[in-house]
Amino acid sequence: MTQDDSGGEFTRMLDLLSTNKTDFFREPKHFDYLREQILPTLERDKHIRIWSSACSTGEEPYTIAITLHEHVKNPASWDMGILASDISTRVLAHAAAGLYGEERITTVPSDIARRHFLKGRGKSAGLVKVKPHLSKLIKFRRLNLMSETFPITSPLDLIFCRNVMIYFDRPTQERLIAKFHRYLKPGGHLFIGHSESLQWIKHDFSTIAPTIYRKET
Ligand SMILES: C[S@@+](CC[C@H](N)C(=O)[O-])C[C@H]1O[C@@H](n2cnc3c(N)ncnc32)[C@H](O)[C@@H]1O
Repeated sequence: MTQDDSGGEFTRMLDLLSTNKTDFFREPKHFDYLREQILPTLERDKHIRIWSSACSTGEEPYTIAITLHEHVKNPASWDMGILASDISTRVLAHAAAGLYGEERITTVPSDIARRHFLKGRGKSAGLVKVKPHLSKLIKFRRLNLMSETFPITSPLDLIFCRNVMIYFDRPTQERLIAKFHRYLKPGGHLFIGHSESLQWIKHDFSTIAPTIYRKET
C-alpha cells in the first residue's frame, strides 16, 4: 500500500485488505474540541474549510457537518466547506448517497438525528438519508494520501486523518504529516485516530492533546 495511484486492481485489493470501519460521532472528543475550541475562534470571519481525508462511507464528514450546523449561530451566514476523500470509489459512492441503515445512527442523539436525517418509509423503511443542508456542504473526491500534492487551493482550518495512518510505515506517515502541515493555515488543526500517535515521527506541529495537533506558523 505505498506508491501506486492507478486505481483499478489496487483499489479493489485495498478494499479487501483494509477496514472501512467508521461510525457517526466516532471518537467524540474531536467533535467536542471542534465545537468548544475551534468554532468560537472563527465566529468573526464565519469561514471554515475542513478536510476529512480518509472518509470511508461518509459518517465522519457528515458528523462534522452536523457539528457545524448544530453549533454555529445562523449556519446560513457562514461560508463552510468540507472536502471528504478516500482512495476507494466503492466507499465514496456510499458516502455520496448519504443513505444508511437506521441502526447506523444509534450513536446520534435522537433530537439531532431528527434534524439531520430523513426517515425512510414504504420500500425505504429501515433506512435514513442525510438531509440536503448537510450534503451540500460536502464535496466527495477520490484522493490517494500517497500523492505528492492534493487539489486543495485554499488553506485549511482542520484536517481529519483518523484510523488510516496505522496502515502506513513510519517514513510514509512522516511524509503525509508534512503534507498536511503545508495545507493547513497557521493555527489550523490536525486530528488523528485515538490509536495513532505522532510520537515517533518528525513533525512541525504542536501537540495540544493526544491525537490533536496544531500548526503554529
Ligand atoms: C478505518 S477507515 C477510517 C474512516 C474514518 N476516518 C474514521 O476514523 O472513522 C480507513 C479508510 O482509509 C482509506 N484509505 C486507505 N488507504 C488510503 C490511501 N492511501 N488514501 C486515501 N484513503 C485511504 C480506506 O479506504 C478506508 O476507507
